[in-house]
Amino acid sequence: MQPTIKINKTGVEKADRVVLLRDASSFTEIIQDQNQKNYIQKKLEGGESAVININLYESRVILLYVKPSSNKNQLLEDFRKKGFEVSSLLNGEKIESVEVISQSNDLDSLLAFCEGLSLSSYQFLKYKSDKKENSLKEIKVVGDYNPKHFDELNNLVEANYIARDLVNEPVIYLTAEQFSEEIQKLGKQAGFVVEVLNETKIQSLKMGGLLAVNEGSPNPPTFNILEYKPSSATNSKPIVLVGKGVVYDTGGLSLKPTPSSMDYMKCDMAGGAAVVGCLYAIAKNKLPIHVVGLIPATENRPDGNAITPGDVITMMSGKTVEVLNTDAEGRLILADALTYAAKYKPELVIDVATLTGSAARATGKEGSVVMGNANEKYRKALVESGYNVHERLVEFPLWSEYGKLIESDIADIKNIGGADGGAITAGKFLEHFVNYDWMHLDIAGTAFLSSVDSYRGKNGTGVGVRLLYDFIKRNF
Ligand code: BES
Ligand code: MN
Ligand code: ZN
Repeated sequence: MQPTIKINKTGVEKADRVVLLRDASSFTEIIQDQNQKNYIQKKLEGGESAVININLYESRVILLYVKPSSNKNQLLEDFRKKGFEVSSLLNGEKIESVEVISQSNDLDSLLAFCEGLSLSSYQFLKYKSDKKENSLKEIKVVGDYNPKHFDELNNLVEANYIARDLVNEPVIYLTAEQFSEEIQKLGKQAGFVVEVLNETKIQSLKMGGLLAVNEGSPNPPTFNILEYKPSSATNSKPIVLVGKGVVYDTGGLSLKPTPSSMDYMKCDMAGGAAVVGCLYAIAKNKLPIHVVGLIPATENRPDGNAITPGDVITMMSGKTVEVLNTDAEGRLILADALTYAAKYKPELVIDVATLTGSAARATGKEGSVVMGNANEKYRKALVESGYNVHERLVEFPLWSEYGKLIESDIADIKNIGGADGGAITAGKFLEHFVNYDWMHLDIAGTAFLSSVDSYRGKNGTGVGVRLLYDFIKRNF
């Protein structure tokens, strides 16, 4: 369960508490016992960051010292990571409520600590009979703070949890239609409008990419349109977010080798989940910004009717595509969504997708890949947001030479390039379908983790929610 962060003007005696130390000696202001002082002094001697758990019998005091850094983003990330360590301690000791007291007046580091602490409590227990729930329910920040910062953070963490839940849901539950149901529920909760286009509507729009990928699936596709348009919106043209919604990717007839590469392919709608989470956070926090989300959703499976390598399909834009590998399906459904996006005359379009193993191989789990034709200002700002929230980005080029790699003998383009530069050729493919400022995020390496990584946890990470929220909030 997500712990709630609240403000308490004053602390309570004997409450379990975490104290964020101002410096390596300020613990003396709260610890009286000489033995304990000596113990803490020793722990802090080397000047390294530390989490020190002091048992005062009636309560626990956790002292947190974070080594100063001239790099603000590094400092904030250190605080988030310490939030994870403290979370393990508190949940390990079955503590339900904790006070957080900051000795410094740096609001950002306090928020980062609370963010890390709160994100670390995530669990996916839906299918467990024995639900060993984390104990922590309440984080009481002590001091005279403006609650709006903490309310905003609660909503953002909730949005990240939502994205993780969606990614962690297996396809036996989360079909394209169920995904749409969930999106509609969330729209009602947060206050954004959802329209779901069904197969008939998708056919009448001639979304040839989405329909082709869906051919091998027993379940119909959906096309989800999420819109948040407050009357206070400061942007006249909307920001459009496009998310890949492949609820399961077997590769289709170009079947993925099992076991290793197919095991986690329920995560192939993580881009869509990020878009849902981002709209959720924006709507809940009532940002004065007009944002649209577009999520094409389907399974990619082999079947009698499945598209075959060698097939030529016609996309919504009218372009023809020779499908030479049915496992390069993400770009096919995204292309139609990017075509659809043009009707909004968008200020900027960002697509988010678990698109290529190539991107994952390039950056591993430490960062996502970005490319696009958007102006310099937006490109820089997005990379900057990546550092702000520690969902870092590496920009890849879309040099024209790469375009040759997806030329087809018989159609306008083909859906795969060569063995090399796979993340880029996927980007080049998408570029064929945009006529506005656009950026593409390949989150194949960061969307799903096979082992715990601090507050990002294990399995679905909800990557993209905090990134896009930060970017949109700061730039529009
Ligand atoms: N969904 C996969 C990409 C992926 C890989 C996501 C690893 C998450 C983790 C995508 O649809 C895919 O299969 N891409 C192929 C493209 C290739 C056939 C050109 C790939 O990267 O191997
Ligand atoms: Mn695939
Ligand atoms: Zn895929």
